[in-house]
Amino acid sequence: MALNEKEKTTIKDLQTQEQTCIKKYKKYGQDAKDPVLKELFSTLERNEQKHYDTLGQILEGKVPECDCNDCEGKEYEPEATYDVMSKSDDKESDAFLATDSIGSEKLVSGEYNTNVFNFADTAIRKILADIQIEEQNHAEMLYKYKTVNGMA
Ligand SMILES: [Fe+2]
Ligand SMILES: [Fe+2]
Repeated sequence: MALNEKEKTTIKDLQTQEQTCIKKYKKYGQDAKDPVLKELFSTLERNEQKHYDTLGQILEGKVPECDCNDCEGKEYEPEATYDVMSKSDDKESDAFLATDSIGSEKLVSGEYNTNVFNFADTAIRKILADIQIEEQNHAEMLYKYKTVNGMA
């Protein structure tokens, strides 16, 4: 399946965005104080790497399998590390990382939503829509992490 120039540029831009997410979650995984949050960042880093690789396959003219793994957000049930009512520097720092990450996911999800309209091929639209859902799942997981730890 050959992509036109506009489609290629769009995929490359999305890849740049995924690359930024991968770097961010790697760094945030190192910066996080709570092991539960470290684990979440490492899961997200792996997921963004998969997105990056999927986009790479599309760029090579392949139509990757759409895994439609859409229940990760629903199934995520983090254990609380921090006392809901208490305040600490660690908690504040972790809350910042989680909140900032939700902002990124919202942005990235919006980009997929917009860019899906650039594509002619139905299968590729479906893959991009699936990635968009996964970005929303990432935001949901981060939101649940914040809620259970009283960071909302
Ligand atoms: Fe992603
Ligand atoms: Fe994401």
